[in-house]
Amino acid sequence: MKKVGVLISGRGSNLGALIEAQSSSYKIVQVISNAADAGGLERATQAGIATCVIPHKGKTREEFDAELDADLRQAGVEIVVLAGFMRILSDGFARAWQGKLINIHPSLLPAYKGIKVHERVIAAGERQSGASVHFVVPELDAGPVIAQASVPVHPSDTPELLAARVLEVEHKLYPEALRLLAEDKVKLEKGFAVFS
Ligand code: GAR
Repeated sequence: MKKVGVLISGRGSNLGALIEAQSSSYKIVQVISNAADAGGLERATQAGIATCVIPHKGKTREEFDAELDADLRQAGVEIVVLAGFMRILSDGFARAWQGKLINIHPSLLPAYKGIKVHERVIAAGERQSGASVHFVVPELDAGPVIAQASVPVHPSDTPELLAARVLEVEHKLYPEALRLLAEDKVKLEKGFAVFS
């Protein structure tokens, strides 16, 4: 049973899915938000999980990340899960947690890294989009992919409609990917996701 820390910035629907899917392979022991008003904090509290707000304002990236790191280690966290955490982590943090740090991104990576994903997918006339869970490496949204799920893009889609369709598959994909990592069925080796 691996101890998991989840970092959030907002409503935390993926956090909710991860909480519901907890089993013998992982247990969420700490939820940290950089925003005091993140809805996900309430979800965690309702589930009896310890929460903590670490504001990023007025701190360097390194100072902020050092606080995150200290809090996660104090809670005995073994795997760090980014779930709608909208801060870029320092290279030092990514390296310190290498192989134990994962993120979910609402596109079929390596396509559409970064922000405003659904707007760009629609503007490009894509017929398909989706979600990816990947190991976090220092370069943004560039780490090896652990799992992906695709959804159709309809001609009538708005960014909101597409985001909702993608979010639905995220809620199945993220717990599955976390379970693989928690059960040592996937590892980061020499820059690749290796499955066993
Ligand atoms: C999710 O769609 C997630 O993929 C995205 O933010 C949303 C968070 O929703 N993450 C990113 O864009 C990271 N670059 P949630 O707070 O309801 O889980």
